[in-house]
Amino acid sequence: MTIDIISVVPDLLSSPFAHSIMKRASDKGLLQVNVINLREYTTYARAQVDDYQFGGGAGMVLMIEPLVNAVEHLQKEKQYDDVIYLTPDGETFNQKMANTLSLKKNLLMICGHYKGIDQRFRDHFVTKEISIGDYVLSGGELAAAVLTDAIGRLLPGVLNDETSALTDSFQDNLLSPPVYTRPEIYRGWAIPNVLKSGNHKLIEEWRHEQAIERTTLRRPDILE
Ligand code: ADE
Repeated sequence: MTIDIISVVPDLLSSPFAHSIMKRASDKGLLQVNVINLREYTTYARAQVDDYQFGGGAGMVLMIEPLVNAVEHLQKEKQYDDVIYLTPDGETFNQKMANTLSLKKNLLMICGHYKGIDQRFRDHFVTKEISIGDYVLSGGELAAAVLTDAIGRLLPGVLNDETSALTDSFQDNLLSPPVYTRPEIYRGWAIPNVLKSGNHKLIEEWRHEQAIERTTLRRPDILE
């Protein structure tokens, strides 16, 4: 899978995919992330990519022309399944959307900045608008990194233990149960006995109960 990300601050995206699971995904050739500097696609002087908004008001707006130049250039190389604009007024991202997007071959993400991007680009080029939560970031880069991470770790072969993505929180509308590791007793705090029983059926039952209890307490809204 490839994820291309258009940004005016490409340096913001140099680290998130260079470590840990995302690095493994790229080393294995399962996920290729390309960050594209929007400024390389402007014809305006001093690499200008933004301008004041018509009608007045505070905040600069990314111009349509460099965005279209960049997208049409990239589209010569590959066809995108979705052109995603990261924006606080988009659909709120969740695990189900991550699952759906992880089945695509090529994604293009557009990071806005300042006051946003010219609405005509949204109308004519963007196929999905996604928010990562009800708060405003200074740009779409961190949101693009969040999406890329959540999608990338779902690609088959990225996680060591193939089943571990399936047992993540949210995967079946349940939060994950608690987990424990060594030592067995720390400051007198012992792990639940059932986890030492060696009885896999019992352990699975206990984990399921715990998941239901945790979800009921913390996120009753997602319980089916
Ligand atoms: N850009 C700014 N804020 C954002 C948010 N909450 N989600 C996605 N993109 C954004």
